[in-house]
Amino acid sequence: MSALTIALTKGRILKETLPLLAAAGIEPLEDISKSRKLTFETSSPDVRLLILRGSDVPTYVEFGAADIGVAGKDTLLEHGGKGFYEPLDLRISRCRLMTAGMVGKSTPVGRMKVATKYVSLAKQYYAEKGQQVDIIKLYGAMELAPLMDLADEIVDIVDTGNTLVANGLEPREEIATISSRLIVNKASLKMKHQKIEAFIDAVAGVVREREAELEKA
Ligand code: PRP
Repeated sequence: MSALTIALTKGRILKETLPLLAAAGIEPLEDISKSRKLTFETSSPDVRLLILRGSDVPTYVEFGAADIGVAGKDTLLEHGGKGFYEPLDLRISRCRLMTAGMVGKSTPVGRMKVATKYVSLAKQYYAEKGQQVDIIKLYGAMELAPLMDLADEIVDIVDTGNTLVANGLEPREEIATISSRLIVNKASLKMKHQKIEAFIDAVAGVVREREAELEKA
């Protein structure tokens, strides 16, 4: 039977994904954090890991370059969520997608400038509210934009809220609650059904166990 390729999101999400995979019996054969390699063999001879930027994970899975992916719901919403299945909420890397602005500064009347890396999500969100906006695409450090008068609001993920506070910003409205999800290529699910179902079941079991432990604590 052919091998499984799993595309993982590097950074914070990776740190929380690896223990989940390990508990499901899949461990990389070398230390990912100490290597510049982008593909890794695992303790399971027919499972290979790819280490990608989050925004590229849905693309790899959609086109079948990876059978399975792990990515934040924010990334999936921005991508559009088409072209793959999303069978499992891994319940890791939980945070909120929010609008934020300078403390005490009210939103301008009329058109508003919004800085974000979530261009399509932000467009849809403000359009649904009937708010006219000019979206300014940034690639990071969104919290700086209102401070430097580049934008009236930002759309970004908020976890502890520390980054907002440290930059004189306040959270305004919640757009979505976020966690990392397992996604699966549609053709792979048909062609490698048994293997993928077994993988999803194993990971789902680990997620359930962890949730039960958390409830007990
Ligand atoms: C994310 C996000 C915020 C921060 C929120 O950035 O863009 O800046 O975390 O976390 P907090 O509410 O706990 O302060 P990250 O550090 O992941 O960097 P990135 O934006 O470059 O991906």
